[in-house]
Amino acid sequence: MDELFKKAALDIKQSKNIVGLTGAGISVESGIPPFRGKGGVWEKFDPMEYATIDAFMSNPSKVWKVLLSAMKDMIEKAKPNDGHNGLFELEKIGKLKTIITQNVDGLHQMAGNTDVIEFHGNFVSYTCLKCKNKITYNEIKLDTVPPRCKCSGIYRPDCIFFGEMIPPEALWRSKEVSSKCDLMIVIGTSAVVQPASFMPIIAKNSGAKIIEINPERTPLSGKISDYIITGGAGEVMRKILKEL
Ligand code: APR
Repeated sequence: MDELFKKAALDIKQSKNIVGLTGAGISVESGIPPFRGKGGVWEKFDPMEYATIDAFMSNPSKVWKVLLSAMKDMIEKAKPNDGHNGLFELEKIGKLKTIITQNVDGLHQMAGNTDVIEFHGNFVSYTCLKCKNKITYNEIKLDTVPPRCKCSGIYRPDCIFFGEMIPPEALWRSKEVSSKCDLMIVIGTSAVVQPASFMPIIAKNSGAKIIEINPERTPLSGKISDYIITGGAGEVMRKILKEL
């Protein structure tokens, strides 16, 4: 196992253009549960009932009361962990250029990374469905649910519900950076949701090395990724940085 930390450090040293692809697992040590697996968000809430755009539009009160207020609460309390901080260290030394994240928690930006592509939008800003006014999470008050704008319109988070399109700019920029990087570090994603899970394939086909960091194997392991370092994001990033 120690060999893998050294190997990853060497791969980082030899790279000039690293892209990070992250999923819910990188924020687990910050207290935000993953979506799938034991203790996952989708074990508690049926995504068809609470996480589709049709569910939200047909009953915004219900979706706000159950899923969105729980998500908002978790995200508000969360702080970046050593997984996020490690990726910022890689940006500071000029190696990591961009992070593509499926997460909506804003923790990469809080850690300091400057180029973060949010594939699924975020929970940090909210838009009024009626007048399109935008506000940030600290302005959302949940004394009345759903939260409403001055114009009486309902606020929605700027994240993507199932059934909505990935923001086109996020998609084309992700494809572009994936095709140009020389190393992709894939952290904490089960790699089952398209098109984000396609980015390592684009990177691999363009000649990049792929390192996975995850306590569990994924469909990428042994096929697309060159190797997987099994473990939690924070612990693994700490050990890799020590070897750098
Ligand atoms: N460190 C790193 N990885 C971890 C950790 C940890 N401490 N704990 C769990 N993991 C891994 C799990 O093994 C799993 O592979 O994180 C992954 C989380 O997988 P998912 O819950 O499926 O999250 P993600 O891949 O981000 O899901 C993609 O699915 O429902 C949608 O929109 C949602 O953006 C989300 C998308």
